[in-house]
Amino acid sequence: MACVNDFRLRFGRRELVPIVIGGMGVDISATALALEGARLGGIGHISDAMVHTVSDRRYDTRFVSQKAKLYKHNAASSDKSKVLFDLGRLAEATHNHVGRTMEAKRGEGLIFINCMEKLTMNAPRETLRVRLRSALDAGIDGITLSAGLHLGSFALLEDHPRFRDAKLGIIVSSLRALQLFLRKNARLRRLPDYVIVEGPLAGGHLGFGMDWAQFDLRSIVAEVEQYLKAEALDIPLIPAGGIFTGGDAVSYLEAGAAAVQVATRFTVTRECGLPDPVKQEYFSATEEDIEVNMISPTGYPMRMLKGSPAIGAGNRPNCEAYGYLLDGNGNCAYITAYNREVLAHPGAKKISVRDKTCLCTAMRNFECWTCGHYTYRLKDTTRRLADGSFELLDAEHVFRDYQFSTGQNIALPAQAEAKVSVG
Ligand SMILES: Cc1cc2nc3c(=O)[nH]c(=O)nc-3n(C[C@H](O)[C@H](O)[C@H](O)COP(=O)(O)O)c2cc1C
Repeated sequence: MACVNDFRLRFGRRELVPIVIGGMGVDISATALALEGARLGGIGHISDAMVHTVSDRRYDTRFVSQKAKLYKHNAASSDKSKVLFDLGRLAEATHNHVGRTMEAKRGEGLIFINCMEKLTMNAPRETLRVRLRSALDAGIDGITLSAGLHLGSFALLEDHPRFRDAKLGIIVSSLRALQLFLRKNARLRRLPDYVIVEGPLAGGHLGFGMDWAQFDLRSIVAEVEQYLKAEALDIPLIPAGGIFTGGDAVSYLEAGAAAVQVATRFTVTRECGLPDPVKQEYFSATEEDIEVNMISPTGYPMRMLKGSPAIGAGNRPNCEAYGYLLDGNGNCAYITAYNREVLAHPGAKKISVRDKTCLCTAMRNFECWTCGHYTYRLKDTTRRLADGSFELLDAEHVFRDYQFSTGQNIALPAQAEAKVSVG
C-alpha cells in the first residue's frame, strides 16, 4: 500500500517530502514547528499575523507597548482612524521574526510565511507591501498569500530582487478565486509557484459562506486541476482541510496533487505555539464542541471550539496596542458591536458582545480556539496519561505518521517505558 513517502513535491530540481505544515496565526504555527517541518524535508510555515507581539514575546522587543504608549490619548475614543502602524517598525518586527527563524533553519526543507490580506492594519496596501517585502529581505524561502483574493499582492513585489526566485503561492477556496488572481497578474508574467486549495473543513477563517457544508475539497481540487490542465498551466496543486491521516494524503497524491497542507494534527504538538492547557482542550473536544460562526470581524466564517473564552467576551477594543483588523478608515466590525452594547447597558462594569469578538486581543491571548473540523479526532492520535490528560506529541512524530503510515492507520507515540529503555 502506498504511503506519502512514495511521492515528492518538485520545485524545479528541488525535491521535498510532500507535506506542508500550514500557517496558523497568531504564533500557533510557531518557529519551532516550522523548523521541524523544514528539518524533516517538508515545508513549515510561520505566520506574520501580529508580528509585533510575536517579536516582543520571543525576542524581547517592545513594539506593542511603544505603540500603545504613542496612542494612549486615543484609548477612550471610538475613532481609531489616526491609530497607524509605523512602517519602519513593522519592517523591523518582520525582519526579527523571519530572520531569526531562517538563521535557525536546518535540513533540506523550506520555510514559508503565511500572509493574510485581511490583516488590513488601518493602511491595507502600505502595510501589506512592507510585510511581503521585509519577509523576502529577511530571507524567507517563500510566501503563502491567504485570507483574501490578493489581486494586487504580486504587483507590490514586482521590483523586488527576489520576486522571481522566492517561492510565491496562494490559497484559494474556489476555481473562480484562482482565475481572478491569474487574470489580474497576467501582465507580470509570473505564475504562482504553487496553489493551495483549501476546503471547508480547515481551521482558521474559511473562504466560504455559512453554506460551507455544501462544498467539498475533492470536487474543488478536481475542478481546479481540470482548469490548469486545460490551460496547460503546470502549477503544483496542494489540497488542504480535513486531511487527517497518511492514507487521506495518499488519496490526493495519487489523484495528482503535488503535496498536501495539514495543520490540525500539529496543534497538539510540543512545538506548536498554543499554551499546553489549550492543547488539552483540543484533545478532549468532541464533535459537538466545534462550531463555525461569524464572530470574526473580518466577515469570514471561522471554525472554533464553542468553549473559546473569546465568545461573548466584551473586551474594550485595544487598537492602540494592536489594531490589525482596522480597515483603511479606522473601522472594525468589533468596535461597532462593542459600542452598541455599551450604549445598551449604560453604567455596566462589564459587558458581553456575542456577535463579534475582538480578534486581536483574543488571538494574542490564545482565547480564540480556532481549529479544524477533525479536531475531535485528535484524542485518537495519542495516549491518555495516568492523570487523565493527553500526552503531547512531537512534531516529528506527527510528520512521520503522515509520511509513513498507510491507510487509515495512525501511529501512537511510543509508550513511556519504551522511551526510557531506548533513551
Ligand atoms: C489553529 C489554526 C489556525 C489557523 N490559522 C491560519 C492562518 O492564520 N492563516 C491561514 O491561511 N490559515 C490558517 N489555518 C488553516 C491551515 O493553515 C490549514 O490550511 C488548514 O487548517 C488545513 O486543514 P487541517 O487543519 O484539517 O489539516 C489555521 C488552521 C488552524 C487549525
